[in-house]
Amino acid sequence: MHFIYFLTSGTRFIFWGDMMIPLVKVAMPDRAKLIPALEEVLYSGMIAEGEAVYQFESEFEKQFGLSNAMGMSSGTAALHTALILSGVGVGDEVISTPMTAEPTNTSILSCGAKVVWADVDPQTGNIDPDSVRDRITPKTKAIMSVHYAGYPVRLNELRKIADDYGIALIEDCAHALGARYGNSAVGTVGDYGIFSFQAIKHMTTVDGGMLTLKNAEQMLAAKKIRWFGMLKGVARTELDIDMIGYKYNMNNVTAAIGLVQLQCIENVLKRHIDNGKFYDEQFSHLNGIDFARCEPTAEASYWLYTLLSDDSLNLQNALQCAGFNASKLHRPNNLHSIFKDSSVELPGLESFYRRLLHIPCGWWVSDEDRLRLVDVVKKG
Ligand SMILES: Cc1ncc(COP(=O)(O)O)c(C=O)c1O
Repeated sequence: MHFIYFLTSGTRFIFWGDMMIPLVKVAMPDRAKLIPALEEVLYSGMIAEGEAVYQFESEFEKQFGLSNAMGMSSGTAALHTALILSGVGVGDEVISTPMTAEPTNTSILSCGAKVVWADVDPQTGNIDPDSVRDRITPKTKAIMSVHYAGYPVRLNELRKIADDYGIALIEDCAHALGARYGNSAVGTVGDYGIFSFQAIKHMTTVDGGMLTLKNAEQMLAAKKIRWFGMLKGVARTELDIDMIGYKYNMNNVTAAIGLVQLQCIENVLKRHIDNGKFYDEQFSHLNGIDFARCEPTAEASYWLYTLLSDDSLNLQNALQCAGFNASKLHRPNNLHSIFKDSSVELPGLESFYRRLLHIPCGWWVSDEDRLRLVDVVKKG
């Protein structure tokens, strides 16, 4: 167990690690709903990819307004598959954002392609479309965008660039389940949407992912990539493998958890969004405090709340001492040595990261917690 011990102006604060309000937290459905569903699938004799996976795909589509959804073993598997379907291979370039979790970008390296960094919008941490346009070369095969922390990127501008140059647009929606862009769900403006059900996302299946395709005609190839280059339902002794595939499939146990999670996800998302909007309102006239703002027609799903302050370190200390686990969460990916060949000046990223402070915003943050947190921020 960790604790924070802090002395200031004669006042002493001690917070034990498990008393802190966390930045991220696993959301599990009620035991009474989950355990019978798990028991049923575990002893059904059919635990690999099967009907539960296909039912989960179809319920997920319905609930989030998506189409051509394919359940996968992880968000990373979905990213890799989207890149392969985009035609990304050895020697190609993919324009991407450094402000994300590493799999967004290591999956580009897995294809043998080069990551070309675009700068980020210092207000959101999201990839800046103007910078993307500047980085296009004849080798560019795709744009990788991430709705960082759950705030939608400027999708219309990215779509236009992708169309102008005939390249693919991938939306990494791992942070942004439930976010909207105009009348559309995130994941539907790009050619590919990827979702993650890893432990601490809005919705978890322990591990798992979903790929959505704009072009239904790619579904057959996507399914082959998902399962060793083979199609389910064809006799194993008769099928022919004509392309490389992986072990990227979702299984029925994962899908059974997902199906129960879908019954609860609306309330989880509602609370993230309600807390996020509450903070937006509270911080909108505070000197020295700013926060991520996306386009007026976009609606964030606030997986994390993005606060911006020139004094982010002191504010982090004050919040930690008051029992809130405020912090940054990701290392800008360009700082990893594996990306040293992609090195470039990124002033937008530098400004965003210096001012960034994520604060607890999820379903576990009560009305009382959030009022107390705002009070700490107001006092500075
Ligand atoms: C932005 C982003 N993209 C991709 C991933 C990869 O998802 P997964 O952990 O399900 O492979 C994650 C999470 O880990 C993520 O945060």
